[in-house]
Amino acid sequence: MRKCIISLSAALILAASCVEKAPVLDETLLSSPDGTLTLRFGLSTSGRPYYALNRGAEDVILPSALGFDLVDGSSLKEGFAVVGVVRDSLDETWTPVWGEEERIRNHYNEALVSLRDSLGNAMDLRFRLYDDGLGFRYEFPQENRLVYFKIREELTLFALTGDHTAWWVPGDYDSQEYNFKECRLSEISRYCEKMRIHNASQEGFSPWGVQTALQMKTDSGLYLNIHEAAVLDYPTANLLYDPARKTFQIHLTPDAEGVKGRLQAPCKTPWRTVMVCPRATDVLASRLILNLNEPCALEDVSWIHPVKYVGVWWEMITGKTKWSYTDDYPSVQLGVTDYAASTPHGKHGANNENVRRYIDFAAENGFDAVLVEGWNEGWEDWFGKQKDFVFDFLTPYPDFDLPALNAYAHSKGVRLVMHHESSSSTLNYERWMERAYTLMDQYGYDAVKSGYVGDIIPYGEHHYSQPLINHYHYAIVEAAKHHIMVNAHEAVRPTGLCRTYPNMIGNESAMGTEFRARINPGHTTILPFTRLQGGPMDYTPGIFEQDMSITAPGQSGKMHHTICNQLGLYVTFYSPLQMAADLPENYARFPDAFQFIKDVAVDWDKSLYLLAEPGKVIVTARHPKLSTLNASAESLSRLKDGRKDVICGAARFVYALPEGAHTLQGATPRDVWYVGAVGGAEEQEVSFRLDFLTPGVQYEATVYADAPEADYETAPQAYTITREIVDETKAYTLRIARGGGFAISLREIL
Ligand code: NOJ
Ligand code: CA
Repeated sequence: MRKCIISLSAALILAASCVEKAPVLDETLLSSPDGTLTLRFGLSTSGRPYYALNRGAEDVILPSALGFDLVDGSSLKEGFAVVGVVRDSLDETWTPVWGEEERIRNHYNEALVSLRDSLGNAMDLRFRLYDDGLGFRYEFPQENRLVYFKIREELTLFALTGDHTAWWVPGDYDSQEYNFKECRLSEISRYCEKMRIHNASQEGFSPWGVQTALQMKTDSGLYLNIHEAAVLDYPTANLLYDPARKTFQIHLTPDAEGVKGRLQAPCKTPWRTVMVCPRATDVLASRLILNLNEPCALEDVSWIHPVKYVGVWWEMITGKTKWSYTDDYPSVQLGVTDYAASTPHGKHGANNENVRRYIDFAAENGFDAVLVEGWNEGWEDWFGKQKDFVFDFLTPYPDFDLPALNAYAHSKGVRLVMHHESSSSTLNYERWMERAYTLMDQYGYDAVKSGYVGDIIPYGEHHYSQPLINHYHYAIVEAAKHHIMVNAHEAVRPTGLCRTYPNMIGNESAMGTEFRARINPGHTTILPFTRLQGGPMDYTPGIFEQDMSITAPGQSGKMHHTICNQLGLYVTFYSPLQMAADLPENYARFPDAFQFIKDVAVDWDKSLYLLAEPGKVIVTARHPKLSTLNASAESLSRLKDGRKDVICGAARFVYALPEGAHTLQGATPRDVWYVGAVGGAEEQEVSFRLDFLTPGVQYEATVYADAPEADYETAPQAYTITREIVDETKAYTLRIARGGGFAISLREIL
C-alpha cells in the first residue's frame, strides 16, 4: 500500500521523466522529387521510431514519435531496430474518371523502413514524399508475431514548430456538420465545446480535439494541412492537441467496445498526410490525397457520369412540405402499418403531381436528374428513436407511383435519383441493400443518395468507427456491381477513395446548405481546404431565396450569402454531382441569374486556382471537359443493353456547350471557361487576369456580380449581369460583398 502514497509533485516528476526526449534526427531518409521537402527518420535510444519534415531549411514537423498501444497492454512503440530500408520512386500520370483536371501527376520518392523488435513484432513504415507533402502509413507484414491485434490508440505525433493559425471543427466520433473556427492552436479549447451544435448524432472527446482535414498557417506563411488518405478497414482519425508540447496526436474513433482498430496481419493503416504549401492556392491544387489512394478498382466505368440535378428536397428541409405521408398513427411499423387506409396529411412532398412538376422543370432547364426524398414508407416516426427496422427502401407511399414516375422522367430525358435514408441502422440497410439496388436497376435509377441520420445501430457504434468504415465501403462496392453511383450523407468524411471507386460521386459529411441560417459567412471559403481535400461534397448550393419565411411561410431564419455567392460555388466547389437546390418557383423569380447554373459544367479538364485564403476568398477558373460530350454520346448507344434504359446521354452534357452548338454529331465545341468566386464575412475587392485564355481569341464574358449595394444581411439578392468582349489581356477588379461572390462564363466568339 505504501507504494501508492506518493505526492502529486513526485507523481508529476515521475510522469515527466517517463516522457522520452525526442532524438536529434540527422539522417535524411528521403528528399522530394525537386528537393523542396526532406524527411528525416531515426530511432531513439529506447528504439522508438521518429520522423521529422523540413521544407528547405525550415522545420515543418519536429521529431515526432510513431507507434501504437495495444488493448492487451503491450505496445508497438519501442525496442525496435531497423532491419532494412527499401527505396523507390514513381512518376506517373493518371486519368481520373471525373475530376478537376484530365491528367493527374503522381510523383514521389518512397522509403519502406522495416522495423523489428526482440519479441518478433514486425512493423514497417512506408513514407512517400511529394514536393507538396508527405504521406506515411504503418504496414504489418505476414511474417510477424502479430497476427490478430487490437489497437488501444495510435500514437502518431505531429510536433509543430509554433502556435499556428488553424481552421478546424471540433473533434467528434460521429459528425463533421459544424461551422469552422479560425484561431491559434493554443486557443482551441476556448472555443471547442461552444462550437458543438445540436446534431442528430455527435460525440466529442476533448476540448482539445479537432478533426482532419485540419488547415493551418505558420507565421512564416506556410500552409500546412494534416489529413489522412485511403481509410479502409480502420477507424477514422481525429487529432488531439497538447498545448504544452505543441503536438497533435492521432485519436482514433473507438468501436462499441472501445477498441480503436482490430487488425489482422498482413495489413496496413490509412496514410497520414502532411501537406506543405507556400501558397494557399497550392493547397487547392494539391492532389496528394487522391494520389495516395489506389488506382481505379472498377474495370468498366462507362456508366459513371457527372450529374447536375434538382430535387424534391429543399421544400422538406425548409418545412414547406414533409417527408411523411400521414399523421394518423402515433407510431408506424415496417410491413405492418397500412398507409393505404390512412388519411394523408396533405403536405407530403413526394407526390405524383409534385414530382412531375420537378421532372418538367429539370427537362426544361437541361438538368440530368431529380432527387426525390420521402418516397418510401416509414418517415412518420424514426428520428431520434434509434429504431432498427425503419425503412425497407422498396415500398413507396400510396401517392408515389414509382414505375409511372420513372417512365415519365425517362420520356423527358431525365432520371430520378433514389434516396435511401438508412436511419443509421446499417444492420437494416444491409438487410435490404441487394433488393433495394435491384429495384433501382429495374426502373433505371443509376444514382442513390444515402443518409445516416441519428445514432448508429449496431448500438454503441460511431459514424467513424471501423465497422462503419466497412459498411460504407460495402455499400459502394455493392452499388458498383449494380452500376449505381453513390452520394452518402452523414457518412464519414472522405479520404480520396473516389479514385479507387469513382462511383462514389458525392458525400456530404460537412455542414451543407441544409443548415441554413446556422452557416457562418465564409464557411465555403474554408471547405475546399479541409473537407473537400478528401473528395467532392454534395453541398447542395444554389439557394437564391435566403429568407426561409418566403420559401416556407411560417418558418424563419435568413441565410448568410448573396445570390452571386451561390453562383460562384458551382466553380469554386468541385463536385461531379451538383445540385440546383432551391425551389423552381424561387429560380423563376431570377431567371437571368439561374442561367449561370444552367450553363455551368460539372466536369473539368483544367482547373486554375487564381486567388485563395481560407476564411476570406477563393477565386477559381475551370475549363469544361468537352471530350466528355462525345464519350457520353457514344456510351448512350453502347449502354442500351436492356438492363437499364439509358436515356440521358447526349442531352446530359449540352449545358457545357455555348448556345447554338447543341449538336454533338461532328460539332467541335467552341472554347468555354468558367470563373467563380466566394468571399467571407468582410466586403472586399479582388483583382485577377484572364491570362489563361487562348491568346488572340476573343471571348464573350458574362459577369454575374454582387451589385454595389449587395450584402448578405441587407441586400442578398442584388446582382448585376454584364456582357463584354474580352481576351487574354483582360484584368478584372471586382467587388465581393459580405457573404458574396461572383461568377463569369467565357465563351469563345466564332
Ligand atoms: C440529412 C441529409 O443531409 C439531408 O439531405 C436529407 O434530406 C435528410 N437527412 C433526410 O434523410
Ligand atoms: Ca446532413
